[in-house]
Amino acid sequence: MSERTDSVSLPRKLWNENHIKKYFFPSEPIPRLPCSDPMAQELISQEKPVVLTDTHLCDSALKWDLEYLSENMGSEKYMVYASKSSRFKYWDQAKVKLHCQDFVPPTQRVDMTFPDFVTKLRDWKPGDDRLYLQQGLNNTVGHAIVVDFLQFNWQWLNIQQKKNNWGPLTSNLLLVGMEGNTTPVHYDEQQNFFAQLVGYKRCILFSPDHYDKLYPHPVFHPHDRQSQVDFDNPDFERFSRLNEVRAVEAVVGPMDVLYIPMYWWHHIESLPELGHTISVNFWYKGGPTEKIDYPLAPRQKLAVLRNVEKMLLDALKDPAELGHLLRALVIGRYMDTEQDTGTG
Ligand code: FUM
Ligand code: FE
Repeated sequence: MSERTDSVSLPRKLWNENHIKKYFFPSEPIPRLPCSDPMAQELISQEKPVVLTDTHLCDSALKWDLEYLSENMGSEKYMVYASKSSRFKYWDQAKVKLHCQDFVPPTQRVDMTFPDFVTKLRDWKPGDDRLYLQQGLNNTVGHAIVVDFLQFNWQWLNIQQKKNNWGPLTSNLLLVGMEGNTTPVHYDEQQNFFAQLVGYKRCILFSPDHYDKLYPHPVFHPHDRQSQVDFDNPDFERFSRLNEVRAVEAVVGPMDVLYIPMYWWHHIESLPELGHTISVNFWYKGGPTEKIDYPLAPRQKLAVLRNVEKMLLDALKDPAELGHLLRALVIGRYMDTEQDTGTG
């Protein structure tokens, strides 16, 4: 077990260092920079994480506390997940139906209106299911929320989108979580500006070259894109490269925007300072690749691996056959790098 080598980078010292759990990997702080700093722009263009302190991206939403959202979200039912543990591991309903009918979901969808959600948060006691609202901001939200949304710093966002040659904005997810809620380590296939509005979140990131160190579930599995590794209970025997894992991390607070580059693994914990946390993320499609350089970058290799798995499944039709074919491809042929194959 290695010790964390450094403290996480500080927003303001309003969160308590004692709430930062130690994990089995070392980590370095993610740089915190004003967005006018050329280094911040350089990091975004190189697809490296950075916390931006003065984007003013969501100033109009800094007032989105539980009361304001209760009054203004509207009367629709919103997507809320319930979990018996603090882990809210994402799972894909479509993949359950297609390939994994025996899958037991670790969380349940329990949609409810915003006021009902807030009542449940207030009445919550240990032993109750934990709740995490994760709702796309869509046209069901009330007028005041739309007005605040229109006042986001779209000018800055549009400049970033152009400069970095990203595709369109696909969605904004509103996340309202209880203290201690954790989104376990996974990667997304989109660029993400993650804006923190209320409370503090600890965000631990791993570069895409961890595709062979964090052991993602197979692509057909409902937990596709999620690591199989449980940070609270890592299985070093089964996952032999876990000791090579190296993280970067930051605690983000109100006004901070964390850039989570596409394919970067991330694990996010709600810290206990306010009892709950509120965030909004901005997901953009990645841009077209203009010129491919070899050797491929780790994130391109990850994409290639996804495609190989998908193609094989498409050919075989049965996920139960996939492992056998992949093992036949590798065992005794590509097991031990240079010496065996001369190919590396
Ligand atoms: O819990 C979270 O805030 C997760 C965000 C994400 O995965 O993008
Ligand atoms: Fe994510």
